[in-house]
Amino acid sequence: MSFCIAIDGPAASGKGTISRAVAARFGFEHLDTGLLYRAVGQLVLQGTEPLEAARALVAEDLRSDGLRTPEVAQAASRVAVIPEVRAVLLDFQRAFATRVGGAVLDGRDIGTVICPDAPVKLFVTASAEIRAERRFKELLAGGHDVTQEGVLDDVRARDARDAGRSDAPMVVATDAIVIDTSGMAIEDAVSAAVAAVDAARA
Ligand code: DC
Repeated sequence: MSFCIAIDGPAASGKGTISRAVAARFGFEHLDTGLLYRAVGQLVLQGTEPLEAARALVAEDLRSDGLRTPEVAQAASRVAVIPEVRAVLLDFQRAFATRVGGAVLDGRDIGTVICPDAPVKLFVTASAEIRAERRFKELLAGGHDVTQEGVLDDVRARDARDAGRSDAPMVVATDAIVIDTSGMAIEDAVSAAVAAVDAARA
């Protein structure tokens, strides 16, 4: 039987960590759908046209180096505005969501567009300042030349673009449970997510 857990939220909210922990806890497969858009964004930065890049995407591209850079994140957010690009990536995500044995998908539109009937929907968020601080520390640790103000500007620009687009904007699904990780230890956020899944499976 399939069982889809939809986890949405903005950049650096903690949704990736929570998704991986929930998938491991329940033995489900996990898909970070942001990687699909990042891989398309990276190909576009290398000169490929967005729709062509989305159509040509192969599994190998999701393991490509450099997908986590700020430049690729912004390029991902820009290609994600294009309805035709989203349409090309939709089937793969839906197929993954309905795989036997259960799936956790994280992104921006999982609970609203990809899996509107998901039995568990979470929206993981945190203030822009806290998310920028987390992302700044990650990027510094990864050797990137960034400033905290620059990262905050990037976070805000991406939030505005992801929430403001007309096709599949980032929005809290009406039946989603919101987890605000601003003042929360990540273990507590994972526990809240696991409790929501347990409740839905009971
Ligand atoms: O989750 P992430 O930061 O890796 O995502 C990168 C960009 O991809 C994000 O700014 C918007 C886009 N995205 C999207 O539009 N829909 C998704 N389901 C996942 C990501």
